[in-house]
Amino acid sequence: MKFVQGIGADSERLWGRDLRLLVVDDEEFIRGVIRERMEIEGFFVDEAQNGRQALAKLGMGGYSVLLTDIRMPEMDGIALLQEASRRFPDTARIVMTAYAELDTAVAAMKNGAFDYILKPFSFDVLFITIRNALHKKAMERQLQDHQVNLENRVKNQTELINKMYVRAINALIKALEAKDFYTRGHSQRVTRYSVAIGQEMGLSPDHLKELRRAASLHDLGKIGVRDAILNKPGKLTDEEIGEVLRHPEMATRILSPIPFFRKLLPSILHHHERFDGLGYPGRIKGKDIPLDSRIMAVCDAYDAMTSDRAYRAALPAEDAAAEILRCSGTQFDPEIVSVFLSGRDAIPVRNDPFTEEWQEEEFSSEDPSPVGET
Ligand SMILES: [Fe+2]
Repeated sequence: MKFVQGIGADSERLWGRDLRLLVVDDEEFIRGVIRERMEIEGFFVDEAQNGRQALAKLGMGGYSVLLTDIRMPEMDGIALLQEASRRFPDTARIVMTAYAELDTAVAAMKNGAFDYILKPFSFDVLFITIRNALHKKAMERQLQDHQVNLENRVKNQTELINKMYVRAINALIKALEAKDFYTRGHSQRVTRYSVAIGQEMGLSPDHLKELRRAASLHDLGKIGVRDAILNKPGKLTDEEIGEVLRHPEMATRILSPIPFFRKLLPSILHHHERFDGLGYPGRIKGKDIPLDSRIMAVCDAYDAMTSDRAYRAALPAEDAAAEILRCSGTQFDPEIVSVFLSGRDAIPVRNDPFTEEWQEEEFSSEDPSPVGET
């Protein structure tokens, strides 16, 4: 292993002891001379007469260095380099060229050669050229490993952060349910109804995922409303009503620092808008209201009517459905009302046990990175 020792311990460390060289030249004499010398230096040397033969040998794998002439019959060195750099990127590629072909050497560099060597060359120059190519290849590998490592670390950190988000959100939802008896189960039912409507409407799986998330968080802002108001049996005062009406904005304020939730914010913020523009907080109307908000509005009202509240008993489902129909075009989007009413049989009954929490898998790495968003 004289050659390896001669070019320094770093190459031996980076490339191991099995340095394999493929010499490609149509002149047997040149191949023979290089082979003889490089074998003395400790290389395992193979030969090929042209690009086609060389590709077949490279396909068997394990070559550290490809040393190729440019002008050859059948497949020349440029075509070989193009293929080799695409199919065998781990092999360092060097071209041998005559001075008169310098332009061609430049073309070779553009097509994947690491370096070129001018014929006729001394073996000292060849050794240095090979050493530099091996070194460059090793640096490339290290950089790639580093990048993969970095990507994995970012991915792991992102998943960890996402899981923490989910735990925090589950804790907030539980806290809200603990302080507001009525909310217990409401968000989950609105989520189920909304997703059922979304499916009927043929929304994409990604859209359904967003709708499910927005619906499950739509009333999160009630955590900022006093318990005494949420559970008050009698009529609310104007001031108390004002406090309740702020819950959509409160939810967006709670969620907005977390990039992952930002795309859900418009639909959460506007879930109490009315189709005729008389809702809150934005008083926007018609299709200006986000689609998910229009869906949630119908489901929210239906569930509210069919639930016992602190100040009144639940309405029968038929009466609630009639009320939804009566408010179609004023409070609700008629298109969504019609989907809701025609598909009501497919919508889960309200007393279904539903204790599902936000699952940590909801935020798997398939999602766009929340930490990367701004
Ligand atoms: Fe609400």
